[in-house]
Amino acid sequence: MHLYGTQTVNENGHLTIGGVDVSELASQYGTPVMIYDTELFKERARAFKDTFEKKEIRAQVAYASKAFSSIAIYQLAEQQGLSLDVVSGGELYTAVAAGFPRERIHFHGNNKSREEIVYAFEENIGCIVIDNFLEIDMIKEIADERKQTMNVLVRVTPGIEAHTHDYITTGQEDSKFGFDLKNGQTDQAFLALHDHGYIKFLGMHCHIGSQIFETDAFKFAAEVLMERMVEWRKNYQFICPVLNLGGGFGIRYTEEDTPLEPAIYVEEMADVVKEMAEECEYPIPEVWIEPGRSLVGDAGTTIYSAGSTKVVPGVRTYVAVDGGMSDNIRPALYDAHYSSALANRMNEPHDQQWTVAGKCCESGDKLIEKAYLPKVETGDLLAVFCTGAYTYSMASNYNRLPRPAVVFVEKGQHQLVVRRETYEDIVKLDLPLQSDEKENF
Ligand SMILES: Cc1ncc(COP(=O)(O)O)c(C=O)c1O
Repeated sequence: MHLYGTQTVNENGHLTIGGVDVSELASQYGTPVMIYDTELFKERARAFKDTFEKKEIRAQVAYASKAFSSIAIYQLAEQQGLSLDVVSGGELYTAVAAGFPRERIHFHGNNKSREEIVYAFEENIGCIVIDNFLEIDMIKEIADERKQTMNVLVRVTPGIEAHTHDYITTGQEDSKFGFDLKNGQTDQAFLALHDHGYIKFLGMHCHIGSQIFETDAFKFAAEVLMERMVEWRKNYQFICPVLNLGGGFGIRYTEEDTPLEPAIYVEEMADVVKEMAEECEYPIPEVWIEPGRSLVGDAGTTIYSAGSTKVVPGVRTYVAVDGGMSDNIRPALYDAHYSSALANRMNEPHDQQWTVAGKCCESGDKLIEKAYLPKVETGDLLAVFCTGAYTYSMASNYNRLPRPAVVFVEKGQHQLVVRRETYEDIVKLDLPLQSDEKENF
């Protein structure tokens, strides 16, 4: 069984995270509960940052906060000297509520509203990553109206689609995000922005995929973007000070996953940027990256209580837990795979095959198709590992299930950072019907 970060098994055979017995956390905070190992988050943040420093490349490591957005995680990111990638007014509001330094906030999104853009100007954030021509017009207008300078990057689709173990290059990318690099859209965007009085054009951004276990695609993306930067210098005497290569660094959900250390991704990208810069006598740009999953994914573990079981003879045995697709939609949404263990009986052989089902009214609400566990009894605590990214942030109140509590643990201490929703929370936006007319029946 693979344990992540600070996880251990104590003398009672219980899983511990950050030096805290998860059965204590389950008793105190109830289940389901999401536990974040903040030491692992810090270790990853340091690894990304230190590698850039060792390579002597100026950099910003921006936490892609769509992976898990809350005030406390933003504050933790800020303490580690990270920047922050937000994709909506709501994430920006959370950053503001967390007191995140505005100059280190980068605002993404393929359909930012005028209100969201004005909000970004009001907060005078570090950079807007422009996604489309409508946005270019709105940002120019707003900057002119407010007589306020804004840093911008343009998001481009470089025709590289990275998958877990390989990548493909495509003539034209069918993506809702960004400007196509090959068909002239990116140049058009650059020309519309680079000499505008209130716009400070920093350069290009790309994000080539997620859960990537190799470096070639990143290196190729760096090369392709650097080539365009060199072209712009030749044609327009313009030098881009920044190159943003996005996120997508893979993590280990199950034993089939073979991610690289964060340092490897950074080292290899940094080498390509430096080599290209040297070759073309181009000033080395500041490199920005945006890890999400690789900062919070395996730092997060969800603890559920086991409830009912059901044997389908000759087919499978189900164990149902007290959460499901409402707190982790990923298995139902895109067949994501997870590993698990019985957190209160870690030392027992995990050799029986179970299907872990959620409690939502959907047959597809299965968290793990094939989980290897001891014989599960009602009330056992089931740990599902690696649930820190794109789970709570995608959680819903489907079936009016309250969303779980989120707890940070470190060095034997624990802290509630998002309280469990209550039934009162669930109806707090509802308004009663105004008419009291009743049908006669
Ligand atoms: C623009 C951008 N940057 C960064 C990320 C983070 O990706 P990951 O969590 O795989 O590191 C995403 C994920 O969708 C993204 O769209």
